Amino acid sequence: MCGIIAITTRRKTNVSKMITSGLKRLEYRGYDSVGIATISEGKIQTMKDAGTIDQVTSRLSFDTLEGSTGIGHTRWATHGPPTRINAHPHADCSDSLMVVHNGIIDNYLSLRNDLKKQGHKFKSETDTEVLAHLIEEEFKSEKGPNAVIQAFKKALDKIEGTYAITLIHTADPTKIFLARKDSPLVIGVQDDTKFAASDIPAFLEYTKNAIVLKNGEVATLTPEAVYIEKNGFRVQPKPFIVSWTAESAQKSGYPHFMLKEIHEQPIALQNTLNVNVKALEEATKRILEAEKIIILAAGTSYHAGLSGYYQFQRLLKQKPIYPIIASEYETYNHLVDENTCILAVSQSGETLDVMKGLTAARKAGAKIISIANVIDSSIPRLSQVALYTKAGPEIGVAATKTHTAQVALLARLSLQLEYSLNVWNQQEFSSIITDFTSEVPSITRTVINQNEFKAKQLASIISDQNHSYFLARGKNLPIAMEGALKLKEISYIHAEAFPAGESKHGPIAIVEPKFPVFIISPKDETRKKMFSNSEEMKARGGYIISITHKDQEIVKRSDQSFLIPESSSPLITPISYVIPLQMISYYAAVHRGFDPDKPKNLAKTVTVE
Ligand code: M6R
Repeated sequence: MCGIIAITTRRKTNVSKMITSGLKRLEYRGYDSVGIATISEGKIQTMKDAGTIDQVTSRLSFDTLEGSTGIGHTRWATHGPPTRINAHPHADCSDSLMVVHNGIIDNYLSLRNDLKKQGHKFKSETDTEVLAHLIEEEFKSEKGPNAVIQAFKKALDKIEGTYAITLIHTADPTKIFLARKDSPLVIGVQDDTKFAASDIPAFLEYTKNAIVLKNGEVATLTPEAVYIEKNGFRVQPKPFIVSWTAESAQKSGYPHFMLKEIHEQPIALQNTLNVNVKALEEATKRILEAEKIIILAAGTSYHAGLSGYYQFQRLLKQKPIYPIIASEYETYNHLVDENTCILAVSQSGETLDVMKGLTAARKAGAKIISIANVIDSSIPRLSQVALYTKAGPEIGVAATKTHTAQVALLARLSLQLEYSLNVWNQQEFSSIITDFTSEVPSITRTVINQNEFKAKQLASIISDQNHSYFLARGKNLPIAMEGALKLKEISYIHAEAFPAGESKHGPIAIVEPKFPVFIISPKDETRKKMFSNSEEMKARGGYIISITHKDQEIVKRSDQSFLIPESSSPLITPISYVIPLQMISYYAAVHRGFDPDKPKNLAKTVTVE
């Protein structure tokens, strides 16, 4: 939530243009208001307003801001509505400094009251503005070349909550000061230019050399150097080379990132299944050693985790496995001890609900395995074993390629478990892995090619509906849940998923003619019962849309069918079946006139509780 970018350069150029293009790449993190501040000739220049970057830049010329040091922010409102005044950056009373912030300052009200009593004048309703005035207050008693960083650190000591902050100050006009606690910040390094951003794509067109700022660290960037400290001691930065390309964070001719990312699934899956076998073996060992397993995730990642749950419980029969929505972790904390293994699933690796759960679980002695898409993000760093999906950057707010990559990696992990449990000998296992690794991307490609046109047509049929149901049974339930989440989050058609048998216990009451009912019915043990559940819906006028393995019994009960090629392994079903649902959601959003990349009220990385 909220995107931050800061740049300082020795080049004779205005950074405002670079900041604007960086903000465009961070817009998936928040898009209700945007602002930039620079320092030029010892003075702060700033522009900000409510709206998306395109809307704001059509009114304001960010490019005219001068100076080679600056900060920018794209906001997802938490405190105060999205207005020009509440947009970041925020200044102190004398406009000598500017801050941008991602996170929440929990004690901002009491700090604000104290600062008001000291004479500070507040303009906005945000928690962030408190920071600007706190630094101003602390700066009054600081002297010498380190005055700004000292004041910044003293201010940080007074705030409670979560933050990624960047600060510029006229007293140190070529420097950027940053700090992080539970909200991401990555530093980009070029010879004469330094960047700080919420995510790597913001500076990927300039540099692939990056340093992750860790919790509790404070940093100073000059055009030539990066200085990081923690608790008053210097920290040696650990730079790494980013493997993502600048093109991977661009639309490359697609109208939206979401459509591009749907189409990137075959390659994302192929890359993901090229696994780090050592890490996979270590994860398998930890799972088998543990007395109980908790799968912890949020949103779409939770649905992937749920698919993993059905795979693992088939294999680990007696071992308790609990799939838990991360924000509900506290309710289950009593289950966690040193014999518990937590499997955390997260695209961003920064979701605060997951991090909070993991922090508590670590305290209880649990071991942690994580699956993330962003290398070296917070969640992998909290883990004993880090597995990575290699889906490349995902910019669309709706998770697509990272979801199927998570499901594929969990399926691969369950195959590794089967091998460790002696279900297969070495030869059988090798051939299973070879087939699985080649079949997953190829079926995905076929499903996209064969179903996209139909998805577009169906989207126009259901676009005038306000409600929809997604029905499945047993291990297919996560597919229905993910289909419903995708449709509601980007097309705003209310969508509910539930076990098909539950229909008669309430939900069927609102079914009426044309009501879209999605039936997830692969050729497996659930199919026969799905026949009667479809009939029940059809008898009330429901418009039946089935996703099936060319099962004529289901097809003849449906108004529309999406046909999925059969595969050698049932582990492929939660990957191949979700793809038509992603495409239907995408085209429904477009047909209804909404931007699928920027659904209202949402942001991609949820760094608040
Ligand atoms: O980065 P994470 O995978 O931890 O994010 C979890 C959810 O916030 C995320 O999946 C969310 O549900 C997306 N909007 C799904 O499209």
